[in-house]
Amino acid sequence: MALPFVFVITNVPTAPLAKREVLAAHADARFAFSRPGLLTFKHPSASPAFGEALVFARVAGQSLGNAASVDETIALVPEVLRASAAWHVFARDPEDAASVSRAAQVRDALAAKGLSRSTPSDGEIVIDVVVAEGEPLFVGHHLHGRGRWSVAGGLPEVVVPETSPSRAFAKIEEALVWSGLSPKRGSTVVELGASPGGATLAMLMRGLHVVAFDPGELDRRVRDFVGPGGARVTFHERAAGSVSKQDLPDDARLLVSDMNLAPPVALRYVARVRAMLPKLEAAVLTIKLNDEKMIEQTSRWIELVRAMRFAEVRATQLPSHRQEMVIVART
Ligand SMILES: C[S@@+](CC[C@H](N)C(=O)[O-])C[C@H]1O[C@@H](n2cnc3c(N)ncnc32)[C@H](O)[C@@H]1O
Repeated sequence: MALPFVFVITNVPTAPLAKREVLAAHADARFAFSRPGLLTFKHPSASPAFGEALVFARVAGQSLGNAASVDETIALVPEVLRASAAWHVFARDPEDAASVSRAAQVRDALAAKGLSRSTPSDGEIVIDVVVAEGEPLFVGHHLHGRGRWSVAGGLPEVVVPETSPSRAFAKIEEALVWSGLSPKRGSTVVELGASPGGATLAMLMRGLHVVAFDPGELDRRVRDFVGPGGARVTFHERAAGSVSKQDLPDDARLLVSDMNLAPPVALRYVARVRAMLPKLEAAVLTIKLNDEKMIEQTSRWIELVRAMRFAEVRATQLPSHRQEMVIVART
């Protein structure tokens, strides 16, 4: 039976932000309990649709209860849903190897009972089985849709190649998986804050041409890299504030930004460049949240992006993020 409780799965270090966000957005929610990376709240109108727009939640929905075994897990799930739902089994803390391997065992045990479909369509229910070594399984369910991860636990497990000069390779790949954006091979990207070049490398490997700006140096391996279809980077060793129309390709479809600047400053540069890109289809913008004031204003950053003539704007914290979030916008 569904309970009057909701749950949130969050990055372990930013769980306090997730708690604040839920309590601010849902006046009726009362904090119930937490474990690292998992928060629950009593909520009188709990439903699987809960939490769709939360930024600091990788997964959110309605609790079904705790289970000591795989059979108890199945028993918690309403019978009509068992075969039709997608099943997402994941470690509560993806950095904990024991939990990750236990999650794999639970996933295999469910698959042996025919419960293995994992990719949901919009409007379908996902059963979330949250695994931590030495603890009962936590079971919840959520309604899949835009803004939700289609992979279990919001953990796409991006492998960063050894040749990548930074972990930002994972950030752009995760943002593309989360948003479902799939820039066409051969199209052009404008990138602000490219150095040392992890994200540039990821985009070149996807066959995208990149026009990049940063006052810092781009790693030589990225400068010299040639991706599928001859994709290369054109690098300007300059700050975003100095970009002018003649530096920009007029056919750029995607704008990517990851500058270590306060959000209002970074977004001012982004808005200026966006206004010079008439064929833009989407933007992937990393927003640094280094102090409390910046965190409290997440909805303001989203509105500033919406005002840049984007029709659909969503934000989330990615698994590889620390004190930051990403805004993905589409025209
Ligand atoms: C987190 S790093 C970017 C990582 C990079 N995207 C990657 O994939 O490796 C932040 C970058 O912002 C750059 N930055 C700071 N102020 C900038 C500005 N005004 N214009 C362009 N880049 C700026 C810094 O030089 C730094 O390289």
